[in-house]
Amino acid sequence: MRKKLALRQSQVNAALENIFAKGRDLPQKEVFAAMEYSLLAGGKRLRPVLFLEFAGFGGLSAEEAMPFACALEMIHTYSLIHDDLPCMDDDDFRRGRPTSHKMFGEAMALLAGDGLLTGAFELMLGAEGGVPAENRLAAAYEIASAAGCFGMIGGQVLDLANQTEKARPDGAEPFRVAAKQDLTQINRLKTGALFRASCRGGLLLAGIRKEKYLAAAERFADALGISFQIQDDILDVIGDSETLGKQTGNDEKQGKATYVALWGLEKAQSEVRRLTAQALDELSVFAGLGDPAFLSWLVSSLSERTF
Ligand code: IPE
Ligand code: IPE
Ligand code: MG
Ligand code: MG
Ligand code: MG
Repeated sequence: MRKKLALRQSQVNAALENIFAKGRDLPQKEVFAAMEYSLLAGGKRLRPVLFLEFAGFGGLSAEEAMPFACALEMIHTYSLIHDDLPCMDDDDFRRGRPTSHKMFGEAMALLAGDGLLTGAFELMLGAEGGVPAENRLAAAYEIASAAGCFGMIGGQVLDLANQTEKARPDGAEPFRVAAKQDLTQINRLKTGALFRASCRGGLLLAGIRKEKYLAAAERFADALGISFQIQDDILDVIGDSETLGKQTGNDEKQGKATYVALWGLEKAQSEVRRLTAQALDELSVFAGLGDPAFLSWLVSSLSERTF
């Protein structure tokens, strides 16, 4: 299983390396350098790996699904570059390196993020291969809607409002999360949405339209995405910054109302276990399409991850 993950990660990395090759000698090469700096710095490649697996349930090869898998990783990387900016989480390290704005300045970090986001759509819409256009459109729409204001961006907006440290420029009272449902909704949007697009998008690209599979993929991704974010928040408290490749303790510094801050470490850990079990339960239906054993292993190992 670990070998399969490593293989998938190296296939994704190889595909990502080629995307910006033709920009390296252009006068605007700085933005290509900044995009590659963040994109090729490592990262677990989870969203593309999930996408390839779900596309595989519908019979697509890794090669056929790769442009969409790379697009997801580009959108994710753009979200990290912008998330780290001083006006957002103000972080200095990411994927074991100084953050984009530390390296290239804020303007170029902004543009590198913009370039990755728009580049993702170029890649999806320009992809040809053997995949029918209607399936490409369905997958691209799924990914677009998950990345936007009804999805990830919406979650980032709520997340910003959900911190006490910074005075809000509009003078409004900082918003405090009072209920578990509110925090769950933030996590569902800011992190769960891209997981949903990875799983449902893979099925859609492969031409799968049966509601029982799409709905199970959605419930699976929701549980996985929320638990993934809670684990991220746990690691911000008890993780090792070198292993993580990013600084720890920043959520507390920013006054973020995370699951850990509100309900403590133990409750957060048991919530990760509960959601992991929920995600695993959803996988059985996919046995009708292929072997979900790799996904089961991946989900279990993510719940115990230290990076
Ligand atoms: C970090 O995502 C941001 C969150 C949504 C928690 P990852 O933990 O997947 O980051 P990389 O891609 O491995 O760097
Ligand atoms: C990031 O959440 C979510 C997105 C980038 C959409 P965090 O702010 O917790 O991620 P890290 O800890 O900086 O990776
Ligand atoms: Mg953030
Ligand atoms: Mg952050
Ligand atoms: Mg975090």
